[in-house]
Amino acid sequence: MLLDLFYKKTSMVCIDVGYRNIKVVEVTVRKNNNIFIENYGIVATPMDCIKNGAIYDVDRVLSVVKSVIKEQNMKAKNAKIIMSGTNIITRIYMIDRVSGESDDFTVKNSIPKFLPVDVDNYRVDYKILNTIKEKDKEKYKVFVTAVPKNILQSYIDVLQGLDLKPLAVDIPANSTAKFFNREIQTKDMDDYYSKRKFKKVESDTFAVLDFGSETTIVNFLKDRVLEFNKVILSGSANIDEHISRELDIPLQEAERLKKLYGMTTPNNLSKRDHVVTYGKVSGFIERLTKQIAKCFEFYLERCYGTPISKIFIIGGGSQLSGLSQYLFSTFNVPVYPVGLLNLKGVELKKSLDRDKLNYLINSVGISL
Ligand SMILES: Nc1ncnc2c1ncn2[C@@H]1O[C@H](COP(=O)(O)OP(=O)(O)OP(=O)(O)O)[C@@H](O)[C@H]1O
Ligand SMILES: [Mg+2]
Repeated sequence: MLLDLFYKKTSMVCIDVGYRNIKVVEVTVRKNNNIFIENYGIVATPMDCIKNGAIYDVDRVLSVVKSVIKEQNMKAKNAKIIMSGTNIITRIYMIDRVSGESDDFTVKNSIPKFLPVDVDNYRVDYKILNTIKEKDKEKYKVFVTAVPKNILQSYIDVLQGLDLKPLAVDIPANSTAKFFNREIQTKDMDDYYSKRKFKKVESDTFAVLDFGSETTIVNFLKDRVLEFNKVILSGSANIDEHISRELDIPLQEAERLKKLYGMTTPNNLSKRDHVVTYGKVSGFIERLTKQIAKCFEFYLERCYGTPISKIFIIGGGSQLSGLSQYLFSTFNVPVYPVGLLNLKGVELKKSLDRDKLNYLINSVGISL
């Protein structure tokens, strides 16, 4: 019996349908919440399958997901899927506990005031993040999400079409928060920052920035609990568009230049494509960083937030050369690109290719 409890585990296929890439991961979660990655596959999202956060072409998405499951020989019988952040409305706020009332009643009563959406067309969910005691009063911090029902349905359709047992549809904020609820090893970068000057902030509040292709998601966690979430509707693919227009080249070629040069400063011997790429990448990242900085300010001033002590960056766009240095110089706190293997309690089957693991954080987060 004891052994059974200890080894009890759940295996599932986790799917993250991004604008650019679909990530499919077979994960086993052990009773102690350790994660074992059995298999994974990343495929390009078929063109025009996703619009405004909804899956427009369920059949084409299903067919690529099924082929990954087959090619990677995934055996799990359960499945979870993560929605695109584009159309999800989130609010985090505090309410007083009302004695004699059920928590559910109190929270549901508060929702229309903070998040006025049409309940016929939106699915509204909430989660109590934590309880705070102030003198003789108890307060709840609640996280409320609203998702258009028709968009949610498109994800449910994919799950149901898979011949696997559908477990859940989740949202990026939740999955990131669950993932970063564990210890993160930054040893390899600590040496780098120990030689540099920066603002040492004694707080356990950190930012997780997800640089996707169409969206950039800003999350702040305090004591590992989500405190702030915002989806910025602009992402790494916009850089490709700027470069492509300026140099009059196809998007794919523009993307290649972005990956090649990133924010590496050109010199007077550099070719024109380097100079143009640098200009477009830097301009974009500067504008995006201003939007991120606004979130930092908003969090401090309006959400009674505590200063951010470090920044973790995830998502394909976080691999942009020079990005972490730029963020470091702007925010003046350490910036850590995080891969799956920086997290405690994550193991990987030996034979798996380790190159693309930092794409998988969100898909693995939903398994928890
Ligand atoms: N080395 C690199 N340098 C710069 N950008 C990169 C690099 N590698 C990948 N990218 C960019 O990362 C993006 C894809 O990242 P990701 O798979 O996280 O996006 P997505 O999840 O599909 O998008 P979204 O989250 O917005 O729906 C692409 O725009 C790609 O050009
Ligand atoms: Mg993504």
